[in-house]
Amino acid sequence: MAVRPRVIINAAMSVDGKIALSDRNGVRLSNEEDLRRVHRLRAAVDAILVGVGTVLKDDPKLTVKAEYAKGRNPLRVVLDSDGKTPATSHVLDGSAPTLIVTSEECERTFPPAEVLRIGKDEVDLPVLLDRLEARNIRSILVEGGSTVIWSFLRKGLADELKVFVSSRVLGGHAAPTLAGGPGVASLDEAPRLRLDRIERLGDGALLEYAVVR
Ligand SMILES: NC(=O)c1ccc[n+]([C@@H]2O[C@H](COP(=O)([O-])OP(=O)(O)OC[C@H]3O[C@@H](n4cnc5c(N)ncnc54)[C@H](OP(=O)(O)O)[C@@H]3O)[C@@H](O)[C@H]2O)c1
Repeated sequence: MAVRPRVIINAAMSVDGKIALSDRNGVRLSNEEDLRRVHRLRAAVDAILVGVGTVLKDDPKLTVKAEYAKGRNPLRVVLDSDGKTPATSHVLDGSAPTLIVTSEECERTFPPAEVLRIGKDEVDLPVLLDRLEARNIRSILVEGGSTVIWSFLRKGLADELKVFVSSRVLGGHAAPTLAGGPGVASLDEAPRLRLDRIERLGDGALLEYAVVR
């Protein structure tokens, strides 16, 4: 089997498993200790990946913030089959290299970002991982959102899951949870994790899992 980049999923959630508010607007669930950890993690990987839903709702910069960590900015990768990333998005601000991954049908360009066109519908993740590996991308930090995290877990493409549990309860039926998508029909189909480490981080907890294959 071809070698694929190591995929680490990272997210912050409330005690009730929500990663944003009911209107899907982002909310800062990480505390200062967790932000330092996340920025160090960013500085240690080759690429950071998010879905277009996260770009539209949170407009993240996905760079390494100097106040938390030292290091170069990894490649920013956005899964965006239909090309909906707004031209004013931080991922298109030129502060770090960016790759927008669309379908072959999408003709839009995203200066100054590079465009990679794959397949017809949603981005085929195994193909994407192979293409990234061919560019010497050995490690990828998946930072959301809910739908993208589900896709990586369901397809067995993630190696690790790191989740910071904030001491907050957000509630809300419609609020996105750590993993969205269609879900499983039975426990037998549920991706299995192995809890490797628990660490108290200020007023929250970091849980680190390995994905069992
Ligand atoms: N607390 C945290 O750690 C955290 C971190 C990040 C985001 N968030 C929250 O998460 C929410 C966004 O999550 P979301 O589920 O709405 O959007 P998302 O997961 O960021 O993006 C999903 C979109 O990515 C595109 N996509 C392309 N290929 C895909 C594939 N193979 N698998 C999955 N998606 C693919 C699809 O849009 P197209 O079909 O148009 O390509 C899909 O609708 C926001 O509320 C945000 O605040 C929280």
